[in-house]
Amino acid sequence: MNEKTAANLWGGRFTGETDSGFAEFNRSFGFDRRLFVADIHASVAHCDALVGADVLTPAEAQQIDSALQEILERAQREPDYFKDAAEDVHSFVEARLIEIAGDLGRKLHTGRSRNDQVATDLRLWLRNEIDEISSGLRRTQEALLDIAEANRDVALPGYTHLQRAQPILFAHWCLAYFEMMARDRERLSEVRKRVNVLPLGSAALAGTSYPIDRETVAQGLGFDSVSHNSLDAVSDRDFCIEFANVASLIMMHLSRLAEDIILYSTTEFGFFELGDAVATGSSLMPQKKNPDSMELVRGKAGRVFGHLLGLLTMMKGLPLAYNKDMQEDKEAIFDTVDTVRNSLTVTATVLWNLRVNQPRAREAATRGYLNATELADYLVRKGIPFRQAHETVGRVVMRAVEKGCELNDLTLEEFKSFSPLVEDDVFRSLSLEETLATKSQTGGTASERIAEALVTARKRLAAD
Ligand code: ARG
Repeated sequence: MNEKTAANLWGGRFTGETDSGFAEFNRSFGFDRRLFVADIHASVAHCDALVGADVLTPAEAQQIDSALQEILERAQREPDYFKDAAEDVHSFVEARLIEIAGDLGRKLHTGRSRNDQVATDLRLWLRNEIDEISSGLRRTQEALLDIAEANRDVALPGYTHLQRAQPILFAHWCLAYFEMMARDRERLSEVRKRVNVLPLGSAALAGTSYPIDRETVAQGLGFDSVSHNSLDAVSDRDFCIEFANVASLIMMHLSRLAEDIILYSTTEFGFFELGDAVATGSSLMPQKKNPDSMELVRGKAGRVFGHLLGLLTMMKGLPLAYNKDMQEDKEAIFDTVDTVRNSLTVTATVLWNLRVNQPRAREAATRGYLNATELADYLVRKGIPFRQAHETVGRVVMRAVEKGCELNDLTLEEFKSFSPLVEDDVFRSLSLEETLATKSQTGGTASERIAEALVTARKRLAAD
């Protein structure tokens, strides 16, 4: 079965019919209908500009405007409105417009091409989604601060190489992810600036011969500026790739957070317990409580990275200007947006439902020589060069390992046999409280620094 060429946008040049398989392959309406509202808004702005360009009379523009409003309203009211087998969202809107306004509707495409139209729609749509993702990040940051404040005094072992390293406060761990998300939001606002440039008025590739006031169109649609080069404007998808890059970093951060939570919720670690609301059971093993929520977030990072690479690869060989390859940008960007938004929502829910096992975490923070560096620093304070102190403490640790005890369990005499400079005050230095308290420079895990950092973090959130 073939499609009537009259149903296409390019009837005149063709005598043959479009193969139905190819028509289906060519069609993007199944997914680009998500740009519907943006397409209406951009069309209204273009329509107004055509009055200034003397293509439409104010009365004609008025008629087109109200037809476009009617299309918008019907789409909201009628669930079947999008049933039409249109090629894409732009041809869909134009066809509906012609149905309502007749021949007048055929004037709207003057001085415009689907090439500048699709770039405009996508930028309008993405701008809004960037704001939504930024809010999602903000909510996740709030969740981090909430659980940090609710567990103010909880200590946790800090790791390097996944080996116990030095004790930290749980709140310090929360604030680490807070910082990553602060950078993510900063990056989003930078990308947003480059998204918020108007391509409309570039037409197919060469610019338009109609005196369209592009600055006014930009203002009307909330764009900060207009594109400088029509050839670039219709074939630029840097903004998609930049966005996918920022989205990948967000997912990478969420995935690391997920990994920490998954690990710390195991029986082996036992620092966290996931709330029932965000865990699943096993159909076979009755004891299981699985962190599916976090595993999915970790897993979904992969598909977002894939979209980034897909977009880069799709663009790399394209000659100027528009090529149909670029239709492939949409599903990548739509799925990236959905994945990031859903992952942020689920992550915030997981955080708000997280139970921290304070005794267990404290025990882990005090077992496994996490205070060895503290002993070296103690010797440094007694006048021993750090390198030498490090060597001495290494031998002390070896002794403790042989005895099967912690450093604090050694006697003063044993300490003195390694260094006569050790005094009774060593035990205080080796305590968890002291180990934490000494990390008192900016950015450190000392309780007073963390208290300040939490206040500052709240202020930073309130400020933007
Ligand atoms: N559906 C197309 C896309 O997403 C719109 C632009 C079509 N332009 C063209 N010259 N065929 O890229």
